[in-house]
Amino acid sequence: MLQIRDLYKSYGKQVALNGVNLDVKRGETLVIMGPSGCGKSTTIRCINRLTEPDQGSIVVDGKAVLELQGEALRAYRRNVGFVFQQFNLINRLTVFDNVIFHLVLAGVERDLAEERAEQALRKVGMLKHRHKKPTNLSGGEQQRVGIARALASNPDLMLWDEPTASLDPILVGEVLEVMEELVRTTQTTMVIVTHEVSFALKVADRIVLMDQGQIVEAGSPQAVFNAPKSEIGRKYQKLIAG
Ligand SMILES: Nc1ncnc2c1ncn2[C@@H]1O[C@H](COP(=O)(O)OP(=O)(O)OP(=O)(O)O)[C@@H](O)[C@H]1O
Ligand SMILES: [Mg+2]
Repeated sequence: MLQIRDLYKSYGKQVALNGVNLDVKRGETLVIMGPSGCGKSTTIRCINRLTEPDQGSIVVDGKAVLELQGEALRAYRRNVGFVFQQFNLINRLTVFDNVIFHLVLAGVERDLAEERAEQALRKVGMLKHRHKKPTNLSGGEQQRVGIARALASNPDLMLWDEPTASLDPILVGEVLEVMEELVRTTQTTMVIVTHEVSFALKVADRIVLMDQGQIVEAGSPQAVFNAPKSEIGRKYQKLIAG
């Protein structure tokens, strides 16, 4: 459903993406890993045009994403869920309204928005906290709301940028559990950037390793971590071996 070809992006002299090529199948769970600064965030931010690449093409379900404008771009984005590292919740709104706000902005009618928000919050175990403000929640709970917000629009594609990276280690588990459950129970195509190796081993259909703006290795978790071909792959292998 997703094809990325020859994607390039620089920030001044800093090359963030140096020719990224990637194919993701419908329903696939793809995990992207690699050292800090290798271009993981830039890659997934290009997929929903939070970042504009300098060159290359991105095709989703036959649509040339980089050429979309105006209403067509908004319609495309409604179909792509994004979960951020820094939750990005609106603190003056309740949990429920954070999820609804997103849907209403996207043009969903109020009644339907409420129904979908309720379903999404139930799925991440946050319905009981619907009337609370984000500041009264733990980081793990806030991120579960962030996940509900992305889920509520029933996206075909979900992008996750280190969803557990700013959490207290004790709270990481509850968010990973919710993510695992989602991967198991939905058909949504997932592209997940994470440093959580054991999570990646469990949920990924395929793992992609990046280094210096390029994909250096891709394959099943077993292939990538047991018989790595790249230098980065060998580093992960050592890490897993302890
Ligand atoms: N808005 C920006 N302005 C300038 N440089 C940027 C910007 N965003 C990213 N970069 C640079 O581009 C490169 C790739 O960054 P990117 O955020 O994609 O890496 P990453 O793999 O997500 O790293 P991390 O694991 O630390 O999140 C880095 O060298 C980074 O400093
Ligand atoms: Mg990043």
